[in-house]
Amino acid sequence: MSQKLYEALGLVNTREMFKKAMARKYAVPAYNFNNMEQLQAIIGGCAESKSPVIIQVSSGARKYANQTLLYWMAKGAVEMCRQDLKSHIPIALHLDHGDTFELCRSCVDHGFSSVMIDASHFPYDENVALTKKVVDYAHQFDVTVEGELGVLAGIEDEVHAEKHTYTDPAQVQDFVGKTGVDSLAISIGTSHGAYKFKLKPGESVPPLRFDILEECEKRLPGFPIVLHGASSVVQAYVAMINKFGGKMDNAVGVPEEQLRRAAKAAVCKINIDSDGRLVMTAIIRKIFAEQPSEFDPRKYLGPAREELKKLIVSKNTNVLGSAGQG
Ligand code: G3H
Ligand code: 13P
Ligand code: ZN
Repeated sequence: MSQKLYEALGLVNTREMFKKAMARKYAVPAYNFNNMEQLQAIIGGCAESKSPVIIQVSSGARKYANQTLLYWMAKGAVEMCRQDLKSHIPIALHLDHGDTFELCRSCVDHGFSSVMIDASHFPYDENVALTKKVVDYAHQFDVTVEGELGVLAGIEDEVHAEKHTYTDPAQVQDFVGKTGVDSLAISIGTSHGAYKFKLKPGESVPPLRFDILEECEKRLPGFPIVLHGASSVVQAYVAMINKFGGKMDNAVGVPEEQLRRAAKAAVCKINIDSDGRLVMTAIIRKIFAEQPSEFDPRKYLGPAREELKKLIVSKNTNVLGSAGQG
């Protein structure tokens, strides 16, 4: 085994995290970040609730924040957590929706402890081949790899799909066996973003396809499953956005009780990005509307960060069950 670069950053890969999550029937939160305030809120909220955490960046976030800066931000976040917050929660740094081998390799080489290769929109054999190539590279450095089978409706970074292609449980064993992935993202009815379901008046959110999850679980006993597109789109924040000049009609997400059910089953990682975006936008809009003369970014980004931290504590405690497990 070559030297593990991520260990020098104080990070862990996801292997032990998922083993524990599976045994104790909770899910590890995977929160996306692009900037300092989000990262502070995530680490602060997870330290406070004593939850393990996966901090994840998409390729878009990597372009936005700069790969070198991200490396030091991750290192800084771990040190802040250990030294200032006196917390030793496990922290993994993960690439979300990696779309090429080169991007995954670059992240491994830049200290990520986990990467996702999302080749689920390719034909099956190409998905297998590309995923295996990433696994073969990443495992040399003990970096864990998440693959995906099935395509979520909506936008997956550059990829846009109109409709879900649900995961076919008949493929999961073969895929995991051939690729050697450490975890598998599946498509059971969630989608990315703040508009997950088109509901007619009076209609409620349809249940996720738990039958598919159960079938996958049967074929891969004890294997970590990942749920993308798992924001709940908290209606209080949508209402706040709309009240203070925003326009987010019909924004709707996955009900929390469905996420709780998934977390108790084989789902070991739950991806949340949109909820964090909504919270920050809601608070910033409110402050802009109520204090129009304010122009110090700390005066609106600070409260937005505080509210995001509260949301994270609440998710870990009331939805994922990861609080107290770090
Ligand atoms: O799955 C998508 C994540 O929410 C990342 O979104 O590509 O806009 O950074 P992004
Ligand atoms: P949401 O858009 O539901 O937050 O999903 C985030 C996600 O899956 C990141 O990979
Ligand atoms: Zn995703």
